[in-house]
Amino acid sequence: MKENVTIFDHPLILHKLSILRNKNTPSKDFRALVSEIATLMCYEATRDLPLKEVETETPVAVAKTKVKHLAGKKLAIVPILRAGLGMVEGISALVPSARIGHIGLYRDEETLKPVEYYCKLPKDIGERDVFVVDPMLATGGSAIDAVSQIKLRNPRSIKFMCIIAAPEGIEAFTKVHPDVPVYCAALDEKLNEKGYIVPGLGDAGDRIFGTK
Ligand code: PRP
Ligand code: URA
Repeated sequence: MKENVTIFDHPLILHKLSILRNKNTPSKDFRALVSEIATLMCYEATRDLPLKEVETETPVAVAKTKVKHLAGKKLAIVPILRAGLGMVEGISALVPSARIGHIGLYRDEETLKPVEYYCKLPKDIGERDVFVVDPMLATGGSAIDAVSQIKLRNPRSIKFMCIIAAPEGIEAFTKVHPDVPVYCAALDEKLNEKGYIVPGLGDAGDRIFGTK
């Protein structure tokens, strides 16, 4: 696997993912599982956040050893609408002070190219580490576009998190954005002729919001 791509093998993530893939999993459970998987992925994806040394007064004494604290807490979560919204709550449960931006893109069903319809990012994004989130990385077009938009605002760093990726999406994304680490819960086999990930889980947005 490419250096900048992390594929998770944690049993809890894989267990939840197998329920997520099941076509009979109802929308309510699907939504909850997407959020739980996002929390578990966030735990790992934040492993390298910068720390600073502080001293802490415990009920017993001033701690002589240095205690580490998250430096600055300047994070931003940017879901790609709609399906990315399903991952926001699970991530902000761990980093509640993170600001939340939104990028609206949908994939044209004929061309499979992303069409942008909305972009609202925190004003101070230049001082933030940004997590761009979307459950599916299929052709990669949506994620590539979203990250390109965010790069124009010069954030401190960008990471991309998805639940399922296709090899085609990983190839395309890492070619355009080799500097952006990618975290996925699973790397699937391929795309089908309609641009769906195989075996995948179907249309993530429709399953999260119950629109099909
Ligand atoms: C899905 C998914 C990604 C995109 C992935 O969104 O959530 O954003 O497709 O495909 P790509 O890698 O080929 O660009 P969709 O366009 O279905 O919109 P939705 O989230 O509003 O349902
Ligand atoms: N978008 C989805 O929601 N699912 C896929 O399999 C591909 C793109």
